[in-house]
Amino acid sequence: MRRYLVQTFGCQMNVHDSRRIEEVLRGAGYAPAEGPSTADLLLFNTCSVREKAEQKLRSAVGTYKHLKAQRPELVVAVAGCVAQQEGERLLKRMPYLDVVIGPDNIPELPELVEHIRAGGPPVARTVFDEGSPRFLVARPRTDAREVTSFVTVMKGCDERCTYCIVPYTRGSERYRAADEIVSEVSGLVEGGVREVTLLGQTVNSWHPGEKESHRTPSSFARLLRRVAQEVPGLRRLRYTSPHPRHLNDALIAAHADLPVLPRHLHLPVQSGSDRLLKRMLRRYTVAEYVERVTALQAAVPGLTLSTDMIVGFPGETDADFEATLELVRQVGFVSLFGFKYSPRPYTPALKLADDVPEEVKDARLQALFALVESQQSAHLQALVGTRQQ
Ligand code: 5AD
Ligand code: SF4
Repeated sequence: MRRYLVQTFGCQMNVHDSRRIEEVLRGAGYAPAEGPSTADLLLFNTCSVREKAEQKLRSAVGTYKHLKAQRPELVVAVAGCVAQQEGERLLKRMPYLDVVIGPDNIPELPELVEHIRAGGPPVARTVFDEGSPRFLVARPRTDAREVTSFVTVMKGCDERCTYCIVPYTRGSERYRAADEIVSEVSGLVEGGVREVTLLGQTVNSWHPGEKESHRTPSSFARLLRRVAQEVPGLRRLRYTSPHPRHLNDALIAAHADLPVLPRHLHLPVQSGSDRLLKRMLRRYTVAEYVERVTALQAAVPGLTLSTDMIVGFPGETDADFEATLELVRQVGFVSLFGFKYSPRPYTPALKLADDVPEEVKDARLQALFALVESQQSAHLQALVGTRQQ
């Protein structure tokens, strides 16, 4: 029996993809390896959203180079965003790689591994399934007794935030059919899952039709209502990550009506300065963001918010950063993922000079974290003595 080892970098989407990769491999008769020395296939599922993705990959693969020397039949594969982004070029730069496979080509993995084992040359498969999108089904893990699980509802991204590589590594938006989503959630809940997080790059832009013209502003809200109604055993329904411009009245009403939605939302804002939001092409202003979350909090009293923030985007001044801190105070975020801007290949922001010095980025990030930590402590302090689920 063939054995695999999967190493994952990056976001929840990637963790979820790694699970699907493992399911594809198990379906093809593979079993998990106990360690690298017993694996026939080593697969690195990569992320390129931030930092030095390829360097990270290189050092990870480097750790296992001696194994490849000892056992030439060992197949080394790279999946995920770096694979999609670099394709063939990665094979040229990293000669000990056998397979480079994009997120939409995972079903072909076992076949490609056999091709290599039969003596075939290294191969890169990075074709988006734009025409007929495939979503690999998440199966309940009876062995793991998990209570929480992810369900993909859409993939790709049609926004063009100027700093972000995702539209290039994950392709354009493709949506999964509502029936499929509901039946996956329902199967997971039958298998013991109690909390489901619906996943997508701009999850709340979900709409069932193929074309923009089929979109109605209430599509995603209706999906939430359907899941809530048709899977009564589900105890908590989350979704991530929403785009602020699709937090519409229909979605706010769903939050007010559905007890299965938690009193918390992660809503990435990226900056508190209109000038920077514009340069980032986020398509909303600070005032619009605040208006939306205020409406949400009015509909769901006690709802808390968390967010993503980028510091040191090109041209960010002290005043811009001060506006970011002000927004954090005003909204009262109780938690936050903060990132130092890092230029990514192919993105429009590359044309702007990465002009905020590293020390300034560091200092801003620290100031941001200190502020959020104090807000988080205050929030938790206020809960002391209350009963929460
Ligand atoms: N530099 C820094 N942070 C980034 N993010 C995305 N691209 C970049 C980049 N080039 C952050 C955003 C996004 C999160 C997933 O990663 O805040 O919401
Ligand atoms: Fe990247 Fe913007 Fe799409 Fe999010 S919405 S994945 S930040 S381009």
